[in-house]
Amino acid sequence: MANAALLRLSRSDRVRRLSTRVPATRAVVDRFVAGETEADAVRTVQALIGRGLTATVDRLGEDVTTRAQATATAQAYTGLLDRLADAGAVPAAEVSLKLSALGQGLDDSLALDGARRVCEAAARVGTTVSVDMEDHTTVDRTLAAVHALRVDFPWVAAVVQSALRRTPGDLADLVGPGSRVRLVKGAYAEPAAVAHPAKADVDAAYDRCLALLMAGSGHPQVATHDLDRVDRAVALAAEHGRTADSWELQMLYGIRSDEQDRLRALGHQVRVYVPYGADWYAYFVRRLAERPANVAFFARALLHR
Ligand code: FDA
Repeated sequence: MANAALLRLSRSDRVRRLSTRVPATRAVVDRFVAGETEADAVRTVQALIGRGLTATVDRLGEDVTTRAQATATAQAYTGLLDRLADAGAVPAAEVSLKLSALGQGLDDSLALDGARRVCEAAARVGTTVSVDMEDHTTVDRTLAAVHALRVDFPWVAAVVQSALRRTPGDLADLVGPGSRVRLVKGAYAEPAAVAHPAKADVDAAYDRCLALLMAGSGHPQVATHDLDRVDRAVALAAEHGRTADSWELQMLYGIRSDEQDRLRALGHQVRVYVPYGADWYAYFVRRLAERPANVAFFARALLHR
């Protein structure tokens, strides 16, 4: 899976400070991040909608350390939802949030209250919310928050990671009617006690989880750039007689855009995850870690600055 040493850097404040000071970094970051402002995010979403795609917008930032930052994150999301609605981008665009950006590391109820405020704003403008999954230490609390939010907002999407050994068990509670579930491989460095260390095992687990989701009565969100997994999803959807609006494919902004268009042209729903904001460092390092070629691309940009 992703390069563990590089992933450790995603948590280093020193490297974060250094790399954000190098101007050439910006050009590489722009490949994966839609800009720093809400206006940048809205413009990107409008372009995606113009291509027949849908979007989920993530305001970058995680692991806040004060209650004031947590409150500011919730407020920023409600402002973003208003901007998306004003631009006529809902319901095609929804938002994705990380509970650690809403204060999960400080107090679970603080994060849940913040997420509830974001869901109220989404309901007001007529769209939905997805709750991203972070590292394995947060899974129980994040799934508990999703279940609590779903009492009033049944459309809140959960995310599960095939890398984690526990995930097939978690899916038992998540495949019911209308349940929106994003299936990913997992972007965090995890110990072998809780996660499959070999990529082949993560892929095989992805296929098993995909089969459970497609056989269920929820709304599977197949989030991957791995075309073997995409083909399998398409075949399973056909096998289960699923209509095009009962499941979707998802990819990240800046990765395999040509495939996003090709899959859309075949009649599949394709949603693009659009991150924006100034706090891009941890997200960017996770993208570098997923593919050695990205590190080389980044190194070349630094050398030629
Ligand atoms: P894999 O890593 O096997 O990649 C397959 C192919 O895709 C590669 O060979 C390459 O061609 C291309 N590719 C993949 N990553 C690339 C990159 N960074 N740059 C360039 N090409 C790349 N994770 C998580 O833990 N919690 C979450 O909430 C989410 N949310 C999320 C939403 C969406 C919409 C997506 C698509 C992904 C996530 N992820 C995530 C990230 C996910 O866990 C995983 O790390 C990445 O999607 C990479 O894995 P793939 O499934 O693409 O397969």
